[in-house]
Amino acid sequence: MAVSTEQIAQTDAPRTAPGPKGAPFLGSALDLKNDLLGTTHRAMLEFGDVVRFTVGAGRFQEEAFGVFHPDHIQHVLAGNSSNYVKDDGVYTELRHLLGDGLLTSEGDDWKRQKRMIQPIFTHRRVASYVPMMAAEATGAVERWSGSAGSSVDLNDEMARLTLSVVGRALFGADVEGAVPVIRRTVPFLSERAIQRAIFPLPVPENWPTPANRKALKYQQALYDVVDELIAARRAKPAEGEDLLGLLLQATDPENGSGLDDKEVRDQVLIFLLAGHETTATSLTFTLHLLGQHPQIQENLRTEVDRVLQGRTDPSLEDIMNLRYTTMVIKEAMRLYPAAYGIPRFCKNGDTIGGYNIPAGHSVFTSTWATHRHPKFWDDPERFDPERFTPEREKARPRYAYFPFGGGPRACIGQYFSMLEAAVITAMLIGNYRITTPEGPVKLFTGITLRPQGAVPARIERR
Ligand code: HEM
Repeated sequence: MAVSTEQIAQTDAPRTAPGPKGAPFLGSALDLKNDLLGTTHRAMLEFGDVVRFTVGAGRFQEEAFGVFHPDHIQHVLAGNSSNYVKDDGVYTELRHLLGDGLLTSEGDDWKRQKRMIQPIFTHRRVASYVPMMAAEATGAVERWSGSAGSSVDLNDEMARLTLSVVGRALFGADVEGAVPVIRRTVPFLSERAIQRAIFPLPVPENWPTPANRKALKYQQALYDVVDELIAARRAKPAEGEDLLGLLLQATDPENGSGLDDKEVRDQVLIFLLAGHETTATSLTFTLHLLGQHPQIQENLRTEVDRVLQGRTDPSLEDIMNLRYTTMVIKEAMRLYPAAYGIPRFCKNGDTIGGYNIPAGHSVFTSTWATHRHPKFWDDPERFDPERFTPEREKARPRYAYFPFGGGPRACIGQYFSMLEAAVITAMLIGNYRITTPEGPVKLFTGITLRPQGAVPARIERR
């Protein structure tokens, strides 16, 4: 029986949070490794809104706390965010891999970067990428005509498309040479980072194992291609306003300093990683679910026809008018949140919902579990875009739905990716009827949530 934390008087002495016992010596290590999402979700249903997980035993035992109630998520990510830093295993690995960009940095370093980068992501600037997004989506519509009447792999198609979009936003016309290197290296490196973060005693990175050597080679290839683009751009500034150009010009409003080449590279790598797989996953599941729900797909197509009237150059106003399309994307991101968990490290001890959170432990929020919390979502597994009408959205606590995180570290690319997802969904569904097989897609929990393997869809030209 789940314990509601609201039933615990705040004046009581903090208690030890309940949680699964797991296996002897291992605790929940194997359950989490084999089924991270299911284990977390079941623990929320069984133990309540704050759950203590143990991993390992004796000297090697570690504890991590899952917090699932929207009020507690608000506390960790926003209200008391200065106590919850990014020093957990996942962010430590990400830092090794990608350096100290906006996603991974902390403290004054993060504040300085945020001051410089925020102006690059104003709505006005991001909206200027809509024509490029539409051109990329039109390219996909044309490419798909060769497969009409047969099948495409949504997973592969969306990864290609979103990489092109974020690549063009970053590098403008210079992106072509970089794409094959990014596609070859980023999936391996991101998978490796999460495996190392979950595994209690990863092999030191400087040991010359085959996996370490491969990681080093891939990381170097990625750095080289980005460094070349930076050097070329410093030598000959391009026309237009791609993100790389804007990063090179960015200055700190407090002291006028700029970003050096390494800092620019760190940002570029973060944007590439954070901005490509996440949107690809959101789009893949949006299309997959539409393929399983023909009536919802038809409703969406009716909206696209009414708003776009066959045009392939949507304006920002058009996208704003694609309200149902946006509801569908939000509902797909509820069921399949690309950032399925948001980890933190508790610096000083805390009490959450009456439970003791000792200093120096990992605390994680889980979009996967909270987006299925039975108190806030009726029949949580059902795909129902009507959950996202403005009235129903307003009636829910802010952190019952948080695919882009929240508080000071909320996603800077949220507006970018929602515009991109709406443009791509509208253009594809406006031109093709999609059918996908019944049943769930096998999932892979890397740094982000991804489908494991191909996600086939049968497509018919309208
Ligand atoms: C559907 C797409 C996306 C999802 C689901 C998503 C999700 C998230 C989440 C949950 C966070 C917060 C992480 C934390 O608090 O630990 C975050 C941060 C961030 N995201 Fe995204 N993201 C998406 C797209 C993008 C795009 C397109 C970009 C850039 C072009 C981007 C760049 C970033 C950056 C730089 C941060 C760090 C912000 C900071 O700490 O100040 N993301 N994202």
